[in-house]
Amino acid sequence: MPRQVYRAALFHLLDDPAQTRAPLDGYFADGALMVEDGHVVRAGPWAEIGPTLPPGTAVERFDNALIVPGFVDAHVHYPQLDIIASPAPHLMDWLDTHTFPSELRFADRAVADEAAAFFLDELLRHGTTTALVYATVHKASVDALFTAAKTRNMRIVSGKVLMDRNAPDGLRDTAETGRHESEDLIRAWHGKGRLTYAVTPRFVVTSTEAQLAGAGRLVKDHPGVLMHTHLAENHEEIAEVRRLFPDCADYLGVCEKFGLVTDRSVFAHCLHLSESEWRRMGAAGSAIAFCPTSNLFLGSGLFDAAKAHEHHVPVGLGTDVGGGTSLSLLQTMNEAFKVGQLRRQMQSPFQLFYLATLGGAKALRLDSHIGNFAPGKEADFLVLDLAATPLLERRTAYANAPAELLFALAMLGDDRAVARTYVAGALAHSRLDNRPSAK
Ligand code: GUN
Ligand code: ZN
Repeated sequence: MPRQVYRAALFHLLDDPAQTRAPLDGYFADGALMVEDGHVVRAGPWAEIGPTLPPGTAVERFDNALIVPGFVDAHVHYPQLDIIASPAPHLMDWLDTHTFPSELRFADRAVADEAAAFFLDELLRHGTTTALVYATVHKASVDALFTAAKTRNMRIVSGKVLMDRNAPDGLRDTAETGRHESEDLIRAWHGKGRLTYAVTPRFVVTSTEAQLAGAGRLVKDHPGVLMHTHLAENHEEIAEVRRLFPDCADYLGVCEKFGLVTDRSVFAHCLHLSESEWRRMGAAGSAIAFCPTSNLFLGSGLFDAAKAHEHHVPVGLGTDVGGGTSLSLLQTMNEAFKVGQLRRQMQSPFQLFYLATLGGAKALRLDSHIGNFAPGKEADFLVLDLAATPLLERRTAYANAPAELLFALAMLGDDRAVARTYVAGALAHSRLDNRPSAK
């Protein structure tokens, strides 16, 4: 691919805004992103980059737009698209009533292929270029997702769900088959192109000790893979874990017992952790996917971002669809902000964009590849349309500081604001074919 330059306002985070006093070092009101062979060459002010360009360099300019890194969804279930917006009193009811029946259909490869293609196209339409994704217990559901991701050249992390108890017929494997099928999938997909494998026990409620031990062995035998599971989301779930694992002091202790708490582990939710669990999670270097729309929809609880910060636990933002109610990371930032407000932990717009980009990339251990526009990173980026809706246009026009503009986007934006999505430098989604103008 030849060198290409994109000109518009541009924002990316060079570091965690909680660690730096200058989050605006990555903001340029008139910015430029230079891309070559699917990678970032440089990002900065147009006034510096423009004059250095050889005559004839292709420049695409976007008015009233903001270029940002592609969003990272740190926790989402592709087989749950058909049951999004299904109400239940709480998590355990929701799983039995809506989720498990829907996941049963993924035994059929054709169902999985159709859903995987729809899901990834929806991610791109919402500006998500990387995701950590639950498939189902069926091996073919992972083949379907990775096949579709490879076609689109997306950075997708996924794995076969392990569950050998407390699930209906047709949704259970065994400790043995679960481990062998995971091994087969790791061999077939891990590290191929932009794909990463995640060993995925659903949650400890649905796995026997033998299966959890097998998961721990998989993680140990394949140092590059991630471990992905749910943890401490709901009080009924936690009571069940106590009943099933009476010899373990707490929920995290069950995962520790089987070698599942490492610096390549991602735990979704973590709403009800003790001080000791927070401390141990921080010491292990494990990451959390904060899923505000799901936590509010299922009435699960309010994530404590201050605790994560105190214990240096990396945090990404997850939609958790179908427990979550939107695939939009902008809408997820909106709900993350409101959760923070209920905890009297007000988040800055920089923190919100960090969670959805570089923070998510760090949580998934992919920040050497994606998350911002550091030279050499893969060119996954978005062109956000500041005039996507009349209200967004009006509010962003009235903003007189970058922080105000970013905050308005996080509160008012959704898929309509994603004018273009680029994956490794290639256009993957566009809503504004008639808008770009020449330099
Ligand atoms: N815990 C176990 N399975 C699930 C799931 O599918 N969604 C959510 N939100 N929590 C879970
Ligand atoms: Zn989930």
